[in-house]
Amino acid sequence: MADYQIVDHEYDVVVVGAGGSGLRAALGAAQQGLKVACVTKVFPTRSHTVAAQGGISAALGNMGEDSWKWHMYDTVKGSDWLGDQDAIEYLVREAPKAVYELEHWGVPFSRTDEGKIYQRAFGGMTKNYGEGPVQRTCAAADRTGHAILHTLYGQSVRREVEFFIEYFALDLIMQDGKCTGVTAWKLDDGTIHQFRAKLVILATGGYGRAYFSATSAHTCTGDGNAMVLRAGLPLQDMEFVQFHPTGIYGAGCLITEGARGEGGYLTNSEGERFMERYAPSAKDLASRDVVSRSMTMEIREGRGVGPNKDHINLHLDHLDPAVLHERLPGISESAKIFAGVDVTKEPIPVIPTVHYNMGGIPTNYHGEVLTKVGDNADTVVPGLMAVGEAACVSVHGANRLGSNSLTDLVVFGRAAGLRAGEVVDKAAPVPAAPASVTAGHLARLDRFRFANGSQSTARLRNEMQHAMQSDAAVFRTGETLAGGVAKLRDIAARSADIKTTDRGMIWNTDLVEALEYDNLIDQALVTIESAANRKESRGAHAREDFPDRHDDEWMKHTLAWKRPGEDVAIDYRPVHTYTMSSDIEYIKPKARVY
Ligand code: FUM
Repeated sequence: MADYQIVDHEYDVVVVGAGGSGLRAALGAAQQGLKVACVTKVFPTRSHTVAAQGGISAALGNMGEDSWKWHMYDTVKGSDWLGDQDAIEYLVREAPKAVYELEHWGVPFSRTDEGKIYQRAFGGMTKNYGEGPVQRTCAAADRTGHAILHTLYGQSVRREVEFFIEYFALDLIMQDGKCTGVTAWKLDDGTIHQFRAKLVILATGGYGRAYFSATSAHTCTGDGNAMVLRAGLPLQDMEFVQFHPTGIYGAGCLITEGARGEGGYLTNSEGERFMERYAPSAKDLASRDVVSRSMTMEIREGRGVGPNKDHINLHLDHLDPAVLHERLPGISESAKIFAGVDVTKEPIPVIPTVHYNMGGIPTNYHGEVLTKVGDNADTVVPGLMAVGEAACVSVHGANRLGSNSLTDLVVFGRAAGLRAGEVVDKAAPVPAAPASVTAGHLARLDRFRFANGSQSTARLRNEMQHAMQSDAAVFRTGETLAGGVAKLRDIAARSADIKTTDRGMIWNTDLVEALEYDNLIDQALVTIESAANRKESRGAHAREDFPDRHDDEWMKHTLAWKRPGEDVAIDYRPVHTYTMSSDIEYIKPKARVY
């Protein structure tokens, strides 16, 4: 093994990731009087939360009557009955509090004429249990994530969270099934850091970059998910990958659902508002899985637009330019830069684009990571929590409603901070890190740093991304999935022959990319194998060979393990068919009507 300088740190809590959930968890743990470090591979305000546009859902009732019970119904229905209803109750009940807290910390929300927080319509958000649209999504123009992230970073600094910026987390320090820290590489000077802690909170985001076209930043490589797999723990519901209906054609950049919330609509090559056929009631504001499938069907049936008839038009040109300027300035600019379109005059070319991972690290609603031991699939892994897109709480189930993600980040980030206050003993010593565990992490680092095979990272990654894009797409069949599984297993096998060229440790982007690819390929495998295994259609998982939802057999979470050197192993975990309190009854599955 190469000679590495190892720097040792001791904290009560180490948070990995500095997006919305990581910052909220770090801030929350610091509020409990704990000594907190936040380790992040990018500068906090460059985390992917910065790209969240349309808003954060909470039943504030600023634009008309609303209720957390309606929000709960919509979220359960949106999840296609795969969400855990205790966690969903927690999410929607805490949401208003979390939004007001953000307001008081300084988030510059857009305002109504009366000075209240402005709320817009979003897909699947309804009043009176599905009766019609409700304006529930609190917005700061179309830069809500940006506003929240900057505010939370400021508040975390105020609370003396200690930041370790541009540190790449390598692996979890696990001892006898307990997490006691994380090993990280400091990118600017090449030193290795051992963060020993009583509690590690993973807030490492999604893995959108397993696909070729995604709204996710290039940094979204699911590093925490992959660390969990290497630690011998499962990921949950990885087959559920959300395609956002309106990624800019060709560029993949997000055009917020808020655009349709403000009155935008989709048309095909015949100028038809086709969503009226697929979802007569919700139309363009049906949930994302429905809109993405409808667009794909229009394109397949020859009614796509453009020379290749391979995309769809999104119209905002009928809206008042003053409204576009005030409420949708960010996407007006993105459309100009990435599609050359003046939104006041022309439609934006859009296509369903990978946007969000419903699956991730299984947790309860306190953020504690779960695994299955014997028959108990709710066994808590000591010392380890997960929040945000990295986690699968599971409030989004098989499909997330737009604007429920920012809510998830702050509600469960806060919950994790509170739980940290309960489970971390301030007086206890910080556990030691056995040298053999750190040596294992460094052996993996060396394997990539000195890799001298014949396959470049770029080539392997490109093959993986194209296989995922074509074979784990909006519509899936047993045949496409089996083909995808074979391709990905082959790519994973060839990864042993990977080649890197930079042997240094300072700003070695070649090595960072190889490590990120290694993280992605394991997640790609569990995603496609979980998808091949689930023989029904539910939420974002649309099997053409199994078009119906089968609650008797499949209303259960998938758990998937991918231990180093082993094949993917699959088991299940029951959906929580109970609520958190007696204030609301369990919402029973219903047939899908849009
Ligand atoms: O469309 C959007 O603004 C995205 C929001 C979300 O994914 O929650």
